[in-house]
Amino acid sequence: MYLDEIFGLKGKVAVVTGGSRGIGQVVAEGLARAGAEVVILSRSQADETLQKISDAGGCGYFIKTDVTVEESVTQAFQVIMERSGSVDIVFNNAGVCLHKDTLEATVEEFRQVVDVNLTGEYIVSRAAGKIMIKNDIHGSIINMASMSGSIVNIPQWQCSYNASKAAVIHMTRSLAVEWADHHIRVNSLSPGYIATPMSVDTPKELKDAWMPLIPMHRMGKPEELVPAVLYLAGNASGYTSGSDVVVDGAYTCV
Ligand SMILES: NC(=O)c1ccc[n+]([C@@H]2O[C@H](COP(=O)([O-])OP(=O)(O)OC[C@H]3O[C@@H](n4cnc5c(N)ncnc54)[C@H](O)[C@@H]3O)[C@@H](O)[C@H]2O)c1
Repeated sequence: MYLDEIFGLKGKVAVVTGGSRGIGQVVAEGLARAGAEVVILSRSQADETLQKISDAGGCGYFIKTDVTVEESVTQAFQVIMERSGSVDIVFNNAGVCLHKDTLEATVEEFRQVVDVNLTGEYIVSRAAGKIMIKNDIHGSIINMASMSGSIVNIPQWQCSYNASKAAVIHMTRSLAVEWADHHIRVNSLSPGYIATPMSVDTPKELKDAWMPLIPMHRMGKPEELVPAVLYLAGNASGYTSGSDVVVDGAYTCV
């Protein structure tokens, strides 16, 4: 009962971007298990995620959306308001990573990474914030950052990714302050290396190089991010805004 009061999300509508696989898929299922109706916004189909939500006794639906295209995002939020009548939680998770050194990567490639990871989260936050303010919804926006927003990963070079995630952390603080009077909380989540399609396809020699650098000597599981998202999504974090929650096996401590 007590846990329901602070972590339960019954009656809430939660939007998850990039929820067709990886972290987004697992978190979408977790939000549904906590009672939220979950709406997946992604470029690719989310049948597997919807099946997992339904198997867990939850409910949700998918809207094909490209987070870098403002019109696509605006239309998606219109559909959500018509169908579900609210937007209470946004997990701004869609993202891409590019491993290339700076002189090899093109300026266009830099722009593409920043466009999804930073501008995409800005477009989605802005669309959600507009609805929350208009309808006096005391919502929670959770922006996916990364430990790469605070440290520089080695040995792979990924300047565009690191820069985009650092900007997400400070965009989060900016929106938290700007929207505090509207009772909208905005926080970021900074995972370390998590085993998902984004990182599992990484060459073995790279992962072997990472392990000694992680004090816990393993990658995290997407399931280990769910409790942090549930904390940021619900009543438990009522006085938490502008924070960056780090879940990284202590990587950033050393
Ligand atoms: N895996 C890790 O080690 C790790 C660590 C820290 C942070 N992150 C962050 O977590 C998030 C999810 O990562 P993941 O490992 O699950 O990656 P993933 O590649 O498995 O999933 C990314 C999802 O984003 C979607 N997506 C990409 N571009 C999109 C766009 N323009 N519009 C809509 N959807 C789009 C993809 O379709 C996919 O569903 C990313 O923001 C990533 O930067 C991942």
